[in-house]
Amino acid sequence: MTHDFGVTSLRIVAIANQKGGCGKTTTSIHLAACLSHLQHKTLLIDFDPQGHSTCGLGIHAEKLPHTLFDLLHPAIAPGSLTFSEVAVYARPHLYVMPAYVVLGDLEDLYPDAESLQEAFLRAFDPEALEREGFETVLIDCPPNLGKLTRTALRAAGEVVVPVEPSFFSLHGLAKISETLEKINLHREQPLKIHALMTLFDARNPFSGEVHANVRKHFGTRLFQTLIREDGLFKEAAGAGQTTVDYAPQSQAFEDYRDLALEFLERGMDESLMDAAGLQGARRFGPRRVVGGMLFQIAHEQAQSVEIAGDFNRWIPEKLRRREGGLWQLVLPVAAGRHRYKFIVDGEWRRDPYQPLQLRNGFGGYDSYLELEHSR
Ligand SMILES: Nc1ncnc2c1ncn2[C@@H]1O[C@H](COP(=O)(O)OP(=O)(O)O)[C@@H](O)[C@H]1O
Ligand SMILES: [Mg+2]
Repeated sequence: MTHDFGVTSLRIVAIANQKGGCGKTTTSIHLAACLSHLQHKTLLIDFDPQGHSTCGLGIHAEKLPHTLFDLLHPAIAPGSLTFSEVAVYARPHLYVMPAYVVLGDLEDLYPDAESLQEAFLRAFDPEALEREGFETVLIDCPPNLGKLTRTALRAAGEVVVPVEPSFFSLHGLAKISETLEKINLHREQPLKIHALMTLFDARNPFSGEVHANVRKHFGTRLFQTLIREDGLFKEAAGAGQTTVDYAPQSQAFEDYRDLALEFLERGMDESLMDAAGLQGARRFGPRRVVGGMLFQIAHEQAQSVEIAGDFNRWIPEKLRRREGGLWQLVLPVAAGRHRYKFIVDGEWRRDPYQPLQLRNGFGGYDSYLELEHSR
């Protein structure tokens, strides 16, 4: 029934900054947890021998039969240990590749970053991961620019650089930027760079100053979402949980949920975006109005636009054409989760302004909407 174009492809994202304590691990586990919360199947690779992403998710690496070290060991016979024998199920839609302190030995076992990178790509073949339904792979890097970090940066298509407000973090930005530039010299497709302000404290004037500097340095590549300083992160980590499960009503959870949404928006299939651009996602996505949910889509040339979803038993209803090629319809939608699609001149397509999507039974994706009970 459904026709689909531009099926989402796997995003491999390194979370890197040579500076320790800037929020790499907190960002890795929370972005991973929030993406999985939004039903995006996610793999978190703990690439730091300290194994903080592993224990932060309540996984005891020392009790596991295998960890990432075994999977990447140069002496391992091809095919004798598979991805699924090592990956640990953490929560619905989230798997973790656990790290143990021995992971650091890989730096000596491989003569150079290139050979380690080959082993990495064999272990994490993007096509195989995509067949398994994974949509995002996050790699939590160690606090240095050694072979492990360089391997992650070469294997990734994107990098998130967390920056926390301190004098030293600004100093370190030049260094990580230089590394990224060097890596880009050897790549056909340059790494897509994102920066993220973490541990933000609005009461501290230094926070604002650093934020302004980071924005100057990264421009639009800095996420608009700020991660605020919050004691809950330490508390949740101590309990082996993320704030998604530990405190889903908290601002700590909301900050990373907003980041996950912005991250998804940035990865949206650009061919599906029209002149409205990324800002359109915020302007046009479904929103609650008097009488129900307003659905809208901009399409100058279309002769007819319809919408069908769980809320109208998939019986297409026509949207009204407004000035400037904007199509709109308000529909009553009950609280809960709903899948839907637009039908533009008879062709089924996702809502280009809604970053949330779910795989459907036809091998494509539906747009997806979760409506809370009104308070
Ligand atoms: N937004 C935040 N608010 C408060 N504490 C935080 C926040 N982000 C991280 N932390 C804490 O700061 C410390 C360092 O963070 P972490 O994510 O481990 O950094 P990295 O992986 O870059 O070394 C941890 O104790 C963590 O719990
Ligand atoms: Mg860390």
